[in-house]
Amino acid sequence: MNKAPLLEGLLRYKNEENLILSMPGNKSGKAFLKDKLGEVFKDSLGDLDITEVDPLDNLHNPEGIIREAQELLAKTYKVKKAYFLVNGSSGGNLAAIFSAFNEGDEVLVERNCHKSIYNGLILRKLKVVYIDTVIDENLGIFLPPREEEILRALNKANNPKGIILTSPNYFGISSDIEDVIKKLKDIGLKVIIDSAHGAHFGFNERLPKSMAKLGDYVVVSAHKTLPSLTQGAFLLVNNNCDNVEFYLRAFMTTSPSYLIMASLDYARYYLDNYAREDYKNLIEVAENYTEKINSLNKVYIVSEKEVKSGYTIDKSRYLMIVKDGFSGHKLLDYLREKNIQSEMSFSKGVVLILSPSNTIEDFEKIYLAIKELNLNTLKNNESTMEFINSYPEKILEPYEIFNLKDREINLNEAINKISKDFIVPYPPGIPIVCPGEKITCEIIKIINEYINNGLSVIGINNNKIKVVDN
Ligand SMILES: Cc1ncc(COP(=O)(O)O)c(C=O)c1O
Repeated sequence: MNKAPLLEGLLRYKNEENLILSMPGNKSGKAFLKDKLGEVFKDSLGDLDITEVDPLDNLHNPEGIIREAQELLAKTYKVKKAYFLVNGSSGGNLAAIFSAFNEGDEVLVERNCHKSIYNGLILRKLKVVYIDTVIDENLGIFLPPREEEILRALNKANNPKGIILTSPNYFGISSDIEDVIKKLKDIGLKVIIDSAHGAHFGFNERLPKSMAKLGDYVVVSAHKTLPSLTQGAFLLVNNNCDNVEFYLRAFMTTSPSYLIMASLDYARYYLDNYAREDYKNLIEVAENYTEKINSLNKVYIVSEKEVKSGYTIDKSRYLMIVKDGFSGHKLLDYLREKNIQSEMSFSKGVVLILSPSNTIEDFEKIYLAIKELNLNTLKNNESTMEFINSYPEKILEPYEIFNLKDREINLNEAINKISKDFIVPYPPGIPIVCPGEKITCEIIKIINEYINNGLSVIGINNNKIKVVDN
């Protein structure tokens, strides 16, 4: 009998019965067990994988139940129009970029944006002015740009048509950008907000404010934090750009999964009916356990007062930091041995995505794992990961370099060459070099550190990198 390696691997993982503190937000289906409707959905997955037969409507020309579900979604987020996305926020980011901008437009883009945004910049042939990232050296994390970084980028631009921001970031941290966005809109800039990690924001007072109404286009990944299947996301639109529907059709399959769409409908229904109370309870329990875990004095769960002022944290996420000399990557490995699946690690810690479906037993499991942690096993002999203080100089636009001939050379010989590819440590999937940028000594050192810390670095193969001569 032939093997089915992927399926068998998944089943082995399932049998480990890990506590899922990563995506997806349905948490192995547990989050669907909120009520009878969700239970039936979970139990009927096989039966509900149907296509566009009568009377099940059509995502690309919705006139019936899909249209009704999307109208309810728009009401829930209080936006003009809302669309189901069946290929994640990635597809939504592409559709928003194509709808908002034309070839050759100049846009302000947060440097630490997701790969799907960069793909959009290349495909739409946009000129890029990067917005600097803020670094919190104490916590060892990136923070989203504030008004001052955004205005600095605006001053560098010649004739910007819009801005693409990410809020919150992967760590669940957002900056207060309401005022600056209003200013940018007043001078005619179009605003896209990638709020992939903030689908649940605004549904309880203790959660950060929702971004939904702030941008012309706001993209949220329901599947990251809500009871939705992987790939389920929403595009929320606050302007009158009808062309967005063309681009959604262009970037999404003509055979959208009814399972994903139904799970999106359930995620919206969950937000309307349960989120307010559920997130109140979750945050209360999470805060109690923050105190308990921090009092063990082994790792440190960050609360808002520890982050630079002007920033808000997502209290439904644990940003768990190790002390200097210890490794966040090793903490992830340790938690995994204890059957706790983190979302991601970075040099100084891990991110755990909590969910209202987590029980007290789940929190107790995290607490006990940290209690039993022998800190010596997390000691870090390698040099600590550094963050980039200044980004490489952009020589060519990402789209300009795309068709240029490249050659492969050893990473350590690439000083002063122009990178052909993105160089992206995964996770968190944020480029430290973008196509068209000049590679420096500092960059090479940082890439080597990522590799030595066991992270996969997309764009580097067997220590080789693709460059274009300058
Ligand atoms: C900030 C951000 N934007 C967009 C995406 C893409 O989202 P999706 O996986 O829903 O396509 C991600 C994925 O991790 C992300 O972190």
